[in-house]
Amino acid sequence: MDYLKSLFSLKNRIAVVTGAARGNGKAISEALLKAGATVIMADILKYELLKTVNSFKSKRLKAVLYECDITKNDDLDGLIKTIKEKYNKINILVNNAGVTFGHEVLNYPEEYWDKTYRVNLKAPFELTKRIAKL
Ligand SMILES: NC(=O)c1ccc[n+]([C@@H]2O[C@H](COP(=O)([O-])OP(=O)(O)OC[C@H]3O[C@@H](n4cnc5c(N)ncnc54)[C@H](O)[C@@H]3O)[C@@H](O)[C@H]2O)c1
Repeated sequence: MDYLKSLFSLKNRIAVVTGAARGNGKAISEALLKAGATVIMADILKYELLKTVNSFKSKRLKAVLYECDITKNDDLDGLIKTIKEKYNKINILVNNAGVTFGHEVLNYPEEYWDKTYRVNLKAPFELTKRIAKL
């Protein structure tokens, strides 16, 4: 068991999970933390993120909270700067944050489509580009 644990250990690995405040991102963050990674949990929902990070503390899991809007390049640059200054490396990126707006297709509002494109497609590309450089 110890052999398997060490084989799959993520100790000394730095991970970023977007949309980490709740849902899938929260579960992914918890799994990475339990595997030993340092996890930077990024989300636009400040209070939900704080609540989640605090709930992890009670399980002795220490995550790093980062409030940001991944559709804003300045926020992404700030995230990269923080990672660079604190750890100077990145090993894992989980582009999890996403939005879905249910609506009848024929009258689908353009702003819903634009936001879906910005959060689900453009932001992961912009973040991946920045992380890959680091
Ligand atoms: N739940 C499902 O059944 C399902 C199925 C297939 C794919 N997915 C995908 O998995 C991912 C997570 O889904 P979920 O169900 O946990 O959704 P969720 O809505 O519970 O969580 C998404 C998280 O992303 C965050 N987020 C949204 N926009 C953001 C932004 N601009 N900047 C930073 N954070 C932002 C939200 O605040 C939220 O915490 C999504 O990409 C979704 O499309 C979910």
